[in-house]
Amino acid sequence: MASGNASARDSLRTYPAAQQPDWPDRTALDAVTRKLETLPPLVFAGECDRLKDRLAAVALGEAFLLQGGDCAETFDGVRADTTRDKLSTLLQMAVVLSYASSVPVVKVGRLAGQYAKPRSKPTETRDGVVLPVYRGDAVNGFEFTEASRVPDPARLLTMYQASVTTLNLVRAFTSGGDANLRQIHDLTRDFVSGSPSGHRYESIADEIDRALRFMHATGGPGGADAEEFFVSHEGLLLDYEAALTRVDTFTGLPYATSGHMLWIGERTRDLSGAHVEYFSRINNPIAVKLGPKADADTVLQLIDRLDPKREPGRLTLVVRMGADKVQDALPPLVEKVTASGAKVAWVCDPMHGNTLEAPSGHKTRRFDDVLDEIRGFFDVHHSLGTHPGGIHVEFTGNDVTECVGGGHEVLFEDLASRYESVCDPRLNRSQSLDLAFLVSEFLGTRERRPARPLSATSGPLV
Ligand code: PEP
Ligand code: CO
Repeated sequence: MASGNASARDSLRTYPAAQQPDWPDRTALDAVTRKLETLPPLVFAGECDRLKDRLAAVALGEAFLLQGGDCAETFDGVRADTTRDKLSTLLQMAVVLSYASSVPVVKVGRLAGQYAKPRSKPTETRDGVVLPVYRGDAVNGFEFTEASRVPDPARLLTMYQASVTTLNLVRAFTSGGDANLRQIHDLTRDFVSGSPSGHRYESIADEIDRALRFMHATGGPGGADAEEFFVSHEGLLLDYEAALTRVDTFTGLPYATSGHMLWIGERTRDLSGAHVEYFSRINNPIAVKLGPKADADTVLQLIDRLDPKREPGRLTLVVRMGADKVQDALPPLVEKVTASGAKVAWVCDPMHGNTLEAPSGHKTRRFDDVLDEIRGFFDVHHSLGTHPGGIHVEFTGNDVTECVGGGHEVLFEDLASRYESVCDPRLNRSQSLDLAFLVSEFLGTRERRPARPLSATSGPLV
């Protein structure tokens, strides 16, 4: 793949770019981007095209997207065990969802590149001290000191290295036999028998067991499906993304090569801004986040800019309205987009509209709100006859205490014991598996009991 062209990069700089760091030293930044331009791509165009095909199936109602990972990855978090646990949790969720929906689940991590964060305020104040806000490890340090909070462009090179290392772990894990469906489901069985909420899911886990034994007995695909895994992140830092944009030698088309799929956040989707312009030029599958204030006309204009050829799989709309708003805010968007003939994939992010402050001051989310927003999203699509195409979640494979609720209930007073996120609160491993089983009840074509909030049932089951 050849390096993208310099005049395209210069013309991008003429568009207003929201949420970019205030780099103190432009010369140092230019030296870093020149270096990035010489480094190999992380992903190839053919892989991005394959993901686009998979997402086309989602847009057409024939597949389901499971996208998830940390709110913000950290350089210290680049470890084999944490990456493996994240992957195996996501794969376990995918097996449950795939079994319930009887369609393929497209697996995409918020992984190997999710190092930059948009923020609502440019500064943070603690005890009267005002410092630049933390914008992710790609930009500055989390530690609340003046030295650590100064944006440092050398971090972009560390971001590249951290992404390479993580992607290598992903590729080794998924193709080295560890992602075998049987092994993944055995982990789920351990969860079902060992966790307080797990017993609720025994019958569905038994059914999956039988299905896997049947597949094995008939020589079916013992694990091929589990191996296909893609990575994504918010395409926020345009200097970094532009430097890693390469022209595919085969088709002559430019691709972002920092990840298979990139998304535009709720705060950077301005139609005349640099992010929309940059995304309109790359050929990857892309997504846009839509909050409760997104209006249908803006969404139609975003589709015109980002998917002018109306190519299924090109554009995913990730809605993050809030559990109390999704039922009212989503239908007008789905109706107008459907009427326009665009074939987008609709995906629910049940995290970013449901953040609250705990009495202890921790930023948290209620498991039941997360589940409620997904339920509302499914209800809207079912009533309009459209396809609820997937979920986009913030989770980790570790036993953190960042979101409250779940079958193995985390209480407000537990938050301090293992709160590790440097940005938004994530579902822990057991909450993530709870979520997959409960969402599978909305997906199932077979008769199931309706899902009830876990908090209503966890007491007697313990
Ligand atoms: C995120 O996904 O972490 C995020 C910041 O989302 P949004 O752009 O939807 O607020
Ligand atoms: Co987040």
